[in-house]
Amino acid sequence: MAIKLYVYLNFMDTKIVYFRDKVNYKKCIEAIKSGEVVVFPTETVYGIGVNALDKNGVKKIYNIKKRETDNPLIVHICDYNIDKYGKNIKPYVYDLIKEFWPGPFTIILNKKDIIPYEVTGGRDTVALRMPNHHVALNLIKESSVPIAAPSANISGRPSGTNAKRCFEDLKGLVNFIIDGEESLIGLESTVVDCTGDTPILVRPGFITLHDIKKVINNAKIYEGINKRFINESPISPGLKYKHYAPKGNMVILKGDKNKVYDYIKLKSISHKNIGVLCVNENRDFYEEIKNSLSIDLTIVNIGHRDDENEIGRNLFECIRKFDDADSDFIISECFYDDFSNAIMNRLLKASSYNIINL
Ligand code: TXA
Ligand code: MG
Repeated sequence: MAIKLYVYLNFMDTKIVYFRDKVNYKKCIEAIKSGEVVVFPTETVYGIGVNALDKNGVKKIYNIKKRETDNPLIVHICDYNIDKYGKNIKPYVYDLIKEFWPGPFTIILNKKDIIPYEVTGGRDTVALRMPNHHVALNLIKESSVPIAAPSANISGRPSGTNAKRCFEDLKGLVNFIIDGEESLIGLESTVVDCTGDTPILVRPGFITLHDIKKVINNAKIYEGINKRFINESPISPGLKYKHYAPKGNMVILKGDKNKVYDYIKLKSISHKNIGVLCVNENRDFYEEIKNSLSIDLTIVNIGHRDDENEIGRNLFECIRKFDDADSDFIISECFYDDFSNAIMNRLLKASSYNIINL
């Protein structure tokens, strides 16, 4: 049973800092060194970071995010020296990091004692990643410590992919947010359990099973990756918690496009603002429905149908736009049918697995 820790947090005067602002950036380095929390950019999503070797510092992250304490954090490092934190490392792991680091790729290893249990949610394993972002790498290097960092959002909310969205969630709760512009990938890293004889993908991301198999051909995907865990324990604790949700209820629509008009008409009776998440190619289709029904429809264009990278990059920012518009019901198109795809994996969770077949 997960325990939630809610303690009184002092209100802080949250500052947005630019990397080129050397005076304030130096304060961020000092903050990490002294066990304080700093939000920083990575190529996947923004992280809320603290010295991974400081267990009291790490506890702050759980309090700020209201994160369940059994859900472990990823430790960010700036070199290939994984033996410092992991033990009994399988030889294939070195091939994987050689191929995918720095990058959106996290490995789970058996942990050494130097990593406190506060970081790993009480587990004997540790997640490590070398991000591919110059600010993140510089912050780790200059502070001379590994940085434990989950995504910089309140637990359950969409991950922050720019400083403004992190500020929205974390204003008053952290001293510094380093602005490193929009995260280029926009989806969290691929997480791979490397403690066994074969790598097992436990969270899909930009790096796919197909990519991993090119390096280690017997790599597998965890069958529970898109499962809804209620009473059982998944291989990775993050799989059982609510994620990425906008404030309004969200559904994924599949099937007959001709029935979408009737569906929206029906839903508009009981909702004041319906949001639609669609590909660029279908935008006009929803504009027509909006005009012919004369309803408040918030149409958010996620990108071009064939550009998976664009859709991935925009996903969390688009979901947050429905909160800006106060949408109380959100319809998302089904972008891909393959649910091991990282985008569909996030949408499935954001909608609490609510797929409607029209
Ligand atoms: O791209 C990313 O991975 C971002 C950036 C900031 O690096 N970080 C991120 O962290 O997404 P977070 O905390 O939101 O997700 C970490 C995931 C969780 O699902 C957690 O359960 C899993 O990694 N995880 C971490 N350590 C683990 C461990 N020892 N065993 C199993 N799963 C682990
Ligand atoms: Mg997260």
